[in-house]
Amino acid sequence: MKDCIFRTRIKVCSWDELTDAQQSLISEAKQMTAQSYSPYSHFRVGAAARLEGGVVVKGSNQENAAYPSGLCAERTTLFAANANYPDRAVESLAIACRRGELFTAKPGAPCGSCRQVMIETEHRYGRPMEVLLYGEDEIYVIESAQDLMPLGFFAENLLEA
Ligand code: THU
Repeated sequence: MKDCIFRTRIKVCSWDELTDAQQSLISEAKQMTAQSYSPYSHFRVGAAARLEGGVVVKGSNQENAAYPSGLCAERTTLFAANANYPDRAVESLAIACRRGELFTAKPGAPCGSCRQVMIETEHRYGRPMEVLLYGEDEIYVIESAQDLMPLGFFAENLLEA
């Protein structure tokens, strides 16, 4: 038996340490929390994706009285981006969360299903997708979505014996 250790590098940044492009995308994600439809959890999540060429696609979590029919902000955003601009890679995805008026102090952690969709989007376009997780106290900058999902499941795995 041997141990196998996976390491993830996350840059923990203050607002001032971000680039203008990162600040702008996070600001769009924060604004999108206002468009969240979350009457059940009251947890508002906003996301913004910058695509190749500079187009920004935005989304928010959408809940449903039949709970599992709802969808997270990350997936509404990435699916909208992939559906409307299938030929443009997603360069960066920003996420912000709040309950009530206050944004979370710590960055929100995307759920496992959203991470799975993130890695497939990244894989599909063959280039790293940056992930920006906003918190009031600190912001996580992750250079590639795959860093959030070691041992990810990809199309190749379907072909393996
Ligand atoms: N949610 C997201 O939008 N993104 C995540 O990564 C985690 C959770 C939403 C789903 C649901 O509407 C609410 O937050 C509470 O789970």
